[in-house]
Amino acid sequence: MSVTEQDVRGAAPSNTPEDVLTWVVGIAALTTPDAIEFSDGSQEEWDRLTTLMVDTGMFVRLNADKRPNSFLARSLPSDVARVESRTFICCEKEEDAGPTNHWADPKAMKATLKEKFSGTMKGRTMYVVPFSMGPLGGPISQLGIEITDSPYVVTNMRIMTRMGKPALDLIAEGKPWVPAVHSVGKPLAEGEADTEWPCNDEKYITHFPETNEIWSYGSGYGGNALLGKKCFALRIASTMAHRDGWMAEHMLILRLTRESTGQQFHVTAAFPSACGKTNLAMLRPTIPGYKVETVGDDIAWMRPGSDGRLYAINPEAGFFGVAPGTSYDTNPMAMETMKSNTIFTNVALTDDGDVWWEGIDAPAPAHLIDWHGNDWSPDSGEKAAHPNSRFTTPAKQCPIICPDWEAPQGVPVDAVLFGGRRATNVPLVAEQYEPAHGVFIGATVASEQTAAAEGAVGALRHDPFAMLPFCGYNMADYWGHWLEMQAKLGDKFPKVYQVNWFRKDEDGKFMWPGYGDNSRVLDWIVRRAAGEASSIDGVTGRYPKFEEFNLDGLDIDQAKWDELFAIDPDAWTAETDDAEQYFSQFGDHLPREITEQLGKLRERIAAAKAAA
Ligand code: GTP
Ligand code: SPV
Ligand code: MN
Repeated sequence: MSVTEQDVRGAAPSNTPEDVLTWVVGIAALTTPDAIEFSDGSQEEWDRLTTLMVDTGMFVRLNADKRPNSFLARSLPSDVARVESRTFICCEKEEDAGPTNHWADPKAMKATLKEKFSGTMKGRTMYVVPFSMGPLGGPISQLGIEITDSPYVVTNMRIMTRMGKPALDLIAEGKPWVPAVHSVGKPLAEGEADTEWPCNDEKYITHFPETNEIWSYGSGYGGNALLGKKCFALRIASTMAHRDGWMAEHMLILRLTRESTGQQFHVTAAFPSACGKTNLAMLRPTIPGYKVETVGDDIAWMRPGSDGRLYAINPEAGFFGVAPGTSYDTNPMAMETMKSNTIFTNVALTDDGDVWWEGIDAPAPAHLIDWHGNDWSPDSGEKAAHPNSRFTTPAKQCPIICPDWEAPQGVPVDAVLFGGRRATNVPLVAEQYEPAHGVFIGATVASEQTAAAEGAVGALRHDPFAMLPFCGYNMADYWGHWLEMQAKLGDKFPKVYQVNWFRKDEDGKFMWPGYGDNSRVLDWIVRRAAGEASSIDGVTGRYPKFEEFNLDGLDIDQAKWDELFAIDPDAWTAETDDAEQYFSQFGDHLPREITEQLGKLRERIAAAKAAA
């Protein structure tokens, strides 16, 4: 028997507004769940749902001494990452989605969704999950309600957002909210037993930016299913931001404090998925004099403040971080954060009920249960953890979480970094010549693909502003929006830097030590902001001077330094030809300034060639 209007009204907290009730009743009628619950975000609810999932096999409870209140989930091999090929922007005009998004006609997609969602929750419980992106009630924060048939999603949302009663209370005050509907797409027949990871081979991750709606079908994983994150906080929010004069970005936020003076700097950085945002956000400086504190590791919402500067908040409440490669060596603060109250997905299980993955501090044990749920030994010849396996962990557990990480008005941004995985061509760091050059730097980000989305790992692809999978409208219009924001804030708009931790030498080895040593690049950027460091005009931007850059304790001499900053004019000519080709798909949406910047880069390449 499926949920009726009476059931919905009976389950809803007494202050649930009528528009919410009407919406939930409609979705229940369409999806026909067996039961309904409104999530309150309580500990009782968490305990009940995690126990329920342990009973159904979806969760493994980890060793309570080693990893208290923590769980492991294993997905199906077909549901391990975002599915960009099944991600749709559904707006009236195809042109508004732009050539880098999959567009679908809103009416046609609604018809498809109606069919897909029809009866999709049969045999399951429908959870109604109110949530806030950003601190509760904050001026930059936004509310949403996710309806889902996955208890895995509910428990992850409790970590990743401010979820439950306090969010519903704000909605009850009449604040606007974004409706988001999610189903794993696996109805259960009468008496049919559930599987450990229900999902559907057919997936639809759909966005209706003109009506601020989200519908997601067929996947239970990460960015496909936790709809507050990529779907709301990036795709829908970027279109809201375009309309209303703010910015929604795929960026970490960190605070850097100079210990000698107490001066604070705030840096945001956009790197494509699995390219080092969590690592940089929790950086442990290898040079003295600085303290780093984490504000956010994946998403930044930024607005001009009354003083004309740009202020950033982290809309999330947790970290959904890449597990492989995370260790006390590479990211001790992430390791400390996930000691308890953490959900692990697709990592390996040790015999004593703890987690393991490639690149964690401990050597591979003789026996593990791998992410498929199979016995594993070091000579299995396969990875024990999936390369995109993740931890979901509360941000407040991070030992270096910034005291102002929940400041409702955000933190003022001093510098913006763009980077990607570039084995060749792109130097360690370059400063913009002028604001439009900063936008050009963002627009030309390219990166070797990672396991965070389906596709060929390692293949170089354009990922402008690290927003290729996340921009909810025409990418070229988004560049135009950046140019407008820069014009509006003038010299108060943060300076842009291009960085690359991933350049390789002839032997294929990383030329830059990275991780904590990235503090050396931040040090130069901060000294630039304070007017204490000079620069050299180069082909791709302004570079630091060898003698002014803190390399203490590193094995990097002038020759190695020159390699880190080497510019091959022919390779850069090829880069510009490729950029021109890439830009051409945007037609007359492409801002004139971008074309001008391409011209200026070509002039600098020609000058370098002439000088050589
Ligand atoms: P999403 O959560 O997918 O948006 O990714 P993210 O950008 O937060 O990725 P994360 O910080 O988790 O980085 C993932 C990978 O980058 C790991 O394999 C890290 O070991 C590697 N990585 C991070 N920083 C560095 C660095 O400075 N140098 C090198 N060589 N690798 C790095
Ligand atoms: C990313 O892919 O950029 C992520 C992980 O942050 S997910 O939330 O799954 O999209
Ligand atoms: Mn991300």
